[in-house]
Amino acid sequence: MRLVLSTRNDGKAREFGSLMAPHIVDPLPKHVMLPPETGETFAENALEKARTAARELGRPAIADDSGIAAEALDGRPGVRSARYAGENATDEQNLDKLMREAPAGSRLAYVCALAYVAPDGTEHVVEGRCEGTLSDTKRGSGGFGYDPAFIPDEHPTMTMAELTPEDKDAISHRGKAARALLAWLPPA
Ligand code: IMP
Repeated sequence: MRLVLSTRNDGKAREFGSLMAPHIVDPLPKHVMLPPETGETFAENALEKARTAARELGRPAIADDSGIAAEALDGRPGVRSARYAGENATDEQNLDKLMREAPAGSRLAYVCALAYVAPDGTEHVVEGRCEGTLSDTKRGSGGFGYDPAFIPDEHPTMTMAELTPEDKDAISHRGKAARALLAWLPPA
């Protein structure tokens, strides 16, 4: 199946390209305007992004909404992870704020809601979760976002940014959600 991925985030686009194989994932054409993320849940935001692309382009679309939840911050930044340090904050500014506010070693979870929407009105949402702890220093150059300080439980000596893309996909929230959607979609 040919799917359009409704995102402007290059890190996500890279990961979904391999995660959704053998389906083909096309980038979102430049003229499609994504809605502001106003939902209170990852699922609501993912659905809105996928609905926009499916409606504008008349073809099946997928979109994820994802983020990080810190136990020490009662689950924040959550759905506001991309703009935690301000509306136009960089990944680095967001991560620095998290490292100032949550103690090293405290529990974190990455969450991903992944929505599929087809022009005939079919909608399906799946979720994936990845547990870990906050590192005291930033390490690694892979991945994106909060990865340099996220130590996944499955690899307790490494940050997510030190893993190969394949090792990240095998344990990540996005990898788990993608595999759940692959199991639901008809074979490619
Ligand atoms: P949104 O889904 O576009 O609202 O953005 C999600 C934000 O959560 C990203 O900008 C990152 O800051 C963070 N995030 C989501 N997934 C990951 C990941 O796999 N690694 C690191 N940060 C992530």
